Amino acid sequence: MNEKEAIAEILKKALEELKINLKEEEISKFVEVPPSIDMGDYAFPCFFLAQKFQEEPHEIAIEIREKIREIPEEFEDIETSGPYINFFVNKKNLVSQVIYEILAKKERFGKPKLTEKNRAMVEFSQPNTHKAFHVGHIRGTSLGESISRILEFLGNKVTRANYSGDTGMHVAKWLWCYTKYHSKEKLRNDESWIAGIYVEAMKKLEGNKKFQEEADTINWALEGKKNNKLNQIWKKSRRFSIDSWKKIYKELNVEFDVQFFESEMEKRAKAIAYELREKKIASKSDGAVIVNLKKYNLGVWVLLRKDGTVLYSAKDLALAEKKISKYKISKNIIVHGSEQNLHFKQLFKTLDLMKFQIKSEDVGFDLVRLPRGKMSSRTGENILYSDFMKEMTNYAKKEIKKRLKTKPSAFPSQVQEREEKISKSDLENRALKISIAAIKYSMLKQNPNKNIIFSKEESLNFEGDSGPYLLYSYARAKSILKKSKDKKQQNQKEDSSMELENEETKLIKILSQFPEVVLNSGKNLNPSLIANYSYKLAQSFNEFYHSCPVINSKNEDFRIKLVKSFVQVMKNSLDLLGIKILEKM
Ligand code: ARG
Repeated sequence: MNEKEAIAEILKKALEELKINLKEEEISKFVEVPPSIDMGDYAFPCFFLAQKFQEEPHEIAIEIREKIREIPEEFEDIETSGPYINFFVNKKNLVSQVIYEILAKKERFGKPKLTEKNRAMVEFSQPNTHKAFHVGHIRGTSLGESISRILEFLGNKVTRANYSGDTGMHVAKWLWCYTKYHSKEKLRNDESWIAGIYVEAMKKLEGNKKFQEEADTINWALEGKKNNKLNQIWKKSRRFSIDSWKKIYKELNVEFDVQFFESEMEKRAKAIAYELREKKIASKSDGAVIVNLKKYNLGVWVLLRKDGTVLYSAKDLALAEKKISKYKISKNIIVHGSEQNLHFKQLFKTLDLMKFQIKSEDVGFDLVRLPRGKMSSRTGENILYSDFMKEMTNYAKKEIKKRLKTKPSAFPSQVQEREEKISKSDLENRALKISIAAIKYSMLKQNPNKNIIFSKEESLNFEGDSGPYLLYSYARAKSILKKSKDKKQQNQKEDSSMELENEETKLIKILSQFPEVVLNSGKNLNPSLIANYSYKLAQSFNEFYHSCPVINSKNEDFRIKLVKSFVQVMKNSLDLLGIKILEKM
C-alpha cells in the first residue's frame, strides 16, 4: 500500500464515524502534496466537505482529526492546520520501504500491478519523402518514442507506426522542378540534394500561376499513374528519401513496427469519400466532396478536390480504417505538429460520425525554433538533420575535451577518476550519444504545446538543466559504486538509530515519487513530467553527493544502498525518455 492509499483508509474510517460515506478512491483524489515540508508530506483539504455540509472547513478538519484515534506506524504525526489535515510520514519507515522496493523491483520499480493491457498504436515522426527531415521531426520522434515507452511500462501493448506523405502536391512540385530544371542530373541518394530541389520548387512556384498549373497536371498524372516515365522518377526518388531515414532512426534509437504511406491510402480514400456521400455524411460543394462540420464549430473538411484528386484528409480516413481492421487496436494515438490540431479534430469527429469504435487521442506539439546563424539552414527555413547533428557533435566534442583537462576537487576520495586521454572513435561515439541525449532531453522537458527555442549551448551545458547533466550525475553515482566494490567490504551493522541528513531525506522522498510521476505522464501523454522529474532527481543526488561522503563514512552501507537506488531510478527515467545511458562521461 502506498502512502496516499494509507491516508485514504485512515480518512475513510474517520469520515464514517461522522456519517460521511466516501470511497477511498474519491478521498485520495483530494489528497495533495503541500508546497512546503513543514506542512507535512501530504494534506487533505476540507473545503469540499465544508461546502457539502454547510460548515466551516477548519471546524470539519478538527472534527475529522478527533476521530483519528490512533496514528498508524507509517506516520509520525497527523495535525490540522486551518482547513487542512496534514500528514507527516514516518521517515524511518519510508526510507527502508522505498529503498527496499527499488532494489528489489529494479527496472520494474513503479510498474503498476493492475495494468491496462490496451492495444495501442502510437503514430509519430511522419517525415515526408522528397523533403527534409528537420528539427521538428526530431521533436515528434523523441516524443512519440517516449510516449510509446511510457505506455508499454504501464502495461499496454504498443505498436509504433510511421506515416509518410510520398505522394500529393509536395511530390508533384518536386517532380515538376526536377523534370523542368534538373532532368540532366542523375537522381541522387543524398538527403541534402533531394531537399534542395523541393526548396527550389517552392521558390519558383510562388505566385506563378502558369507554373502551378503545370505542377497540378503532374499531380493529376502521378495520382492516376498515367505517365510511365514520371512514375519511374517518382519510385526512385521516393526510395532514396526513405533510405535516408534509416540512419536517423538508428541514431535516435527508434524502431517502427509498421510504416504506412499516403500512396497506399489513395484508392480506399476515394472510395470512402463516395461512401460518405451515399451515407449523407459528406456532400458535394462547388464540385468538391466535403464534410460539413460547421455544426460542431469545426468548419468544412474537404475530402476530394474538384478535379477528383484525393486530399490528405480523406487519406487519413483510410489510414484509420486500416489501423483498426488490420492491427485490432483499441487506442489510436497520433503525435503531430500543432499546425494540424484542427485537422485531427475534424478527423476524429468524422470518425465519430462514421461510428468508428476507437478511442483516438492526439498530441500536437509546437514549433522548434533555431537561433539565426549556423543553425539555420542553407536550403530554407529547415535545417537538415545531418547538418544539425554535425553542428551538435562538433560542439559536444569540444565540451568533452574541455572536461578531460579539468580535475574536480570536492571529496577527492569519491570522485571518479578522470581519464586524461580518449581515443578518437571513443570521442566520436561519446559525442554522438551525448548530443542525442542533449537534443532529446531539451525536446522532452518542454510541454508539447509550448514552442522550443533550441540552443545548442544550453542543451549541451553539463551543469545546466540538460541531458548531459543527467548522464553525468548517473556516471558519477556509478563511479562511487565501482569504488566501493573495489574496496574490501567491511560489513557495517545497520544502525537503526542513524540520523538522516536533510539531503538524504530529500533524495529518498524524490525517489519515492517516481511511480506516481510515470502514471501521470502516461495519463497525460506527456513525457515532460518524467523529464522534469529526472532533473529534480539529479539535482537532489548532486546535493547529497556534495554534503554526504559515501566511501569510508560511518553510514557507508546505507549510503551505498541510497546511491544504488538513485542509479536505478535515474536509469528507469532515462529509459522512459528514450535516452541511452553512458557509464563514463
Ligand atoms: N506527414 C504529415 C505531414 O508532414 C504528417 C502526418 C500526420 N499523421 C496523420 N495521420 N495525418 O504533414
